[in-house]
Amino acid sequence: RPVVVAIDGPSGSGKSTIARRVAAKLGLAYLDTGAMYRAATWWCEHRGVDLDDDDAVADAVRAMPLIMVTDPLFPQVVCDDQDITETIRSAAITAVVSAVATNLEVRGELKQRQRAEIDAERTGGRSDGRGIVAEGRDITTVVAPDADVRILLTADEDARLARRARERHGSVDAAHLAATRDEVLRRDRDDSTVSAFLTAADGVTTVDSSRLEVEETLDLVLGVVED
Ligand code: CDP
Repeated sequence: RPVVVAIDGPSGSGKSTIARRVAAKLGLAYLDTGAMYRAATWWCEHRGVDLDDDDAVADAVRAMPLIMVTDPLFPQVVCDDQDITETIRSAAITAVVSAVATNLEVRGELKQRQRAEIDAERTGGRSDGRGIVAEGRDITTVVAPDADVRILLTADEDARLARRARERHGSVDAAHLAATRDEVLRRDRDDSTVSAFLTAADGVTTVDSSRLEVEETLDLVLGVVED
């Protein structure tokens, strides 16, 4: 029987790392929906679309030739025949992605594509019908509220900032923490209308990773999945 695992969480909660590890361990496909919003942002800029023009952004995203490679060992994002996996992590994209992600037409379009990826893995696809782990900010609530397993991965602000500072700058000194704080908290605020991470919806299991190592969080999440 195929299994669909939905994981939501804020920046620095560790959701991408954990979702990939769970998928690899269980032989499931892995879908990073945040990467799809980043790709949409890249595509609009690539096409010279004004991000303030909601209709033009929506039209562009509906026509976006995006391929998500859902291998948890080597996830890739390909758009217009370009491998943009790394490019979409840039500070320039991170700074403006929320503007694209709060466009309701864009959300409708990407929601459909995300559901199509999930449905494909229920019957075949990369996982041979074993299923998929999809992660983001509205997977447990909007994209796949019917998922077999729904998890909200949280972490307190200090833990999230420390993780992001280390990821971005390789250290957690005061200057790096301050720069990271501005970026992360601003994005949390900009995303707040579309995010499910403030409170867990009914039926969603909360896992708090603030004081856990990756391996410990992974064990907890695997425990919830196998339950
Ligand atoms: O950097 P981080 O892991 O926090 O973000 P991400 O997962 O790469 O997501 C980038 C952006 O995409 C978020 O800041 C949201 O604006 C948007 N997003 C969304 O609106 N809904 C999702 N399901 C996933 C991401």
